[in-house]
Amino acid sequence: MPFRIAQIRLVSSHPEVYEPCDDSFALVDALLADRNHLLEHHPTLCLEVGCGSGYIITSLALILGQEAPGVHYIATDTNPHAVRVTSETLEAHGVHAELINTDIALGLEKRLAGLVDVMVVNPPYVPTPEDEVGREGIASSWAGGENGRSVIDRILPIADNLLSDKGWLYLVTLTCNNPSEICLQMRERGYASRIVVQRSTEEESLHVIKFWRYLDAQEDGKQMVTPNKTAPARGVMESLFSQFPLLSSWRSNSNHSS
Ligand SMILES: C[S@@+](CC[C@H](N)C(=O)[O-])C[C@H]1O[C@@H](n2cnc3c(N)ncnc32)[C@H](O)[C@@H]1O
Repeated sequence: MPFRIAQIRLVSSHPEVYEPCDDSFALVDALLADRNHLLEHHPTLCLEVGCGSGYIITSLALILGQEAPGVHYIATDTNPHAVRVTSETLEAHGVHAELINTDIALGLEKRLAGLVDVMVVNPPYVPTPEDEVGREGIASSWAGGENGRSVIDRILPIADNLLSDKGWLYLVTLTCNNPSEICLQMRERGYASRIVVQRSTEEESLHVIKFWRYLDAQEDGKQMVTPNKTAPARGVMESLFSQFPLLSSWRSNSNHSS
């Protein structure tokens, strides 16, 4: 059955809202690369934190499409303009999500605890002075504080609380965010991880990392990182980063425009 992703020309915009960029495209590519697994996963609740223009949540709804009927989509953003723009983007593509203007998932903890089957996050990850984090408008799209980790480090425990037993988290990170340390933190919470997409430039390397609980042994059996809580950190990351080859290479915006 044919499926689509969000079309750039139908993605609404606003000067204070993050336009889909290479990181957004990498996350959608990760979802596309994992589409068959996502369909076999039979999610009932999908959540995006930091929806911006709506490009990701709209693409996810289109990628799963008719083959995953009855999925409920929720997207949050602190930026009220982003929530409005996401609503327009969803409508332009004929798909629906519940949109909430909130900080990560504030106010949703009780309702969503243990229920989210797929969570997608392209967070503000650029290292900035701490006082730039959480500012109003477009600055909140990138300002990530020290090592770009301020918002990421707040999202991780919330993701752990919201994800269902079979829940998956797809998270965009840069090398300067120390993704290996993020994986170790999640490992201590009981999550395995793998890199679904990696993109490199001369200056930076971007990863889309997928996390799932160890108990979800069904997930992608061959590619699972073996849990070994006593392994030294370096060994874990060597294992993580060496086991999974690059799944796709840089793609220009034009490849995503239809
Ligand atoms: C890098 S942009 C990603 C936008 C969109 N998901 C994409 O990939 O194109 C990060 C988004 O996170 C939002 N954001 C920043 N801090 C947030 C927070 N604490 N809670 C929810 N959303 C937040 C920003 O407003 C922005 O829309």
